[in-house]
Amino acid sequence: MIAELNVEHLASLIALERQAQSGTSDSQMLEALGSQDTCVLGWWQDEQLLGYAIVARLPFEAELQAIGVLPKCRRSGAGLALMKAVQAIAQGWFSERLLLEVRVGNLSAIRLYQRCGFSEDGCRRGYYPAAKGAAGREDALLMSLVL
Ligand SMILES: CC(C)(COP(=O)(O)OP(=O)(O)OC[C@H]1O[C@@H](n2cnc3c(N)ncnc32)[C@H](O)[C@@H]1OP(=O)(O)O)[C@@H](O)C(=O)NCCC(=O)NCCS
Repeated sequence: MIAELNVEHLASLIALERQAQSGTSDSQMLEALGSQDTCVLGWWQDEQLLGYAIVARLPFEAELQAIGVLPKCRRSGAGLALMKAVQAIAQGWFSERLLLEVRVGNLSAIRLYQRCGFSEDGCRRGYYPAAKGAAGREDALLMSLVL
C-alpha cells in the first residue's frame, strides 16, 4: 500500500533511510514532511514502512528529491510502484515534467528511471561528494519525464 506520510511518521522514515541510504538527511526529511509543496509517499507492507519517495512541487515542474527501498525488499516492484505514485502526484499538480538528479554510478536507480520512461538531459560535473570509500567527486546525471 502506498500512502502519504506526515510528521508523525518522522521516526519510521529516519529508521528506513538509515538502511535505504538514498542520501536524505534527517532535517531534509522533517522539512519535506512539513512542507505544503512537498509530498512524501510511503510504501507499506504489514504496517511496516519499507520504502519511500519525496516529490517537490516547483512553479511549472515537479522534482523527485529521493526514493529508497529497504535493501531486503528490493527488486520486488516497490520502486516502480512508488515512481508511478510520484508521477500521479505530479500530474495532479499539473506539472509539465518530472525532474531528477542521480549519481552517474547509481545504476539501480538509473535503470528504474529509464524503465519509467525518463530521458537523459545532461550532466553536472562533480556535483556529489564521492560515494563512500571513493576519492574525488561524482557527476550527477539530469533526467526528466514529460507528463
Ligand atoms: C533505486 C531503488 C529505489 C529501486 O527500488 P526497487 O524496489 O528495487 O525497484 P523495483 O523492484 O521496482 O525495480 C524496477 C525496475 O528497475 C530496474 N532495477 C532496479 N534495481 C535494479 C538493479 N539493481 N539492477 C538493474 N536494474 C534494476 C529494473 O528494470 C527493475 O525491474 P525488474 O526487477 O523487473 O528487472 C532501490 O535500489 C534503492 O532504494 N536504492 C538505494 C537508494 C537510492 O539510490 N535511491 C536513488 C537516489 S535518491
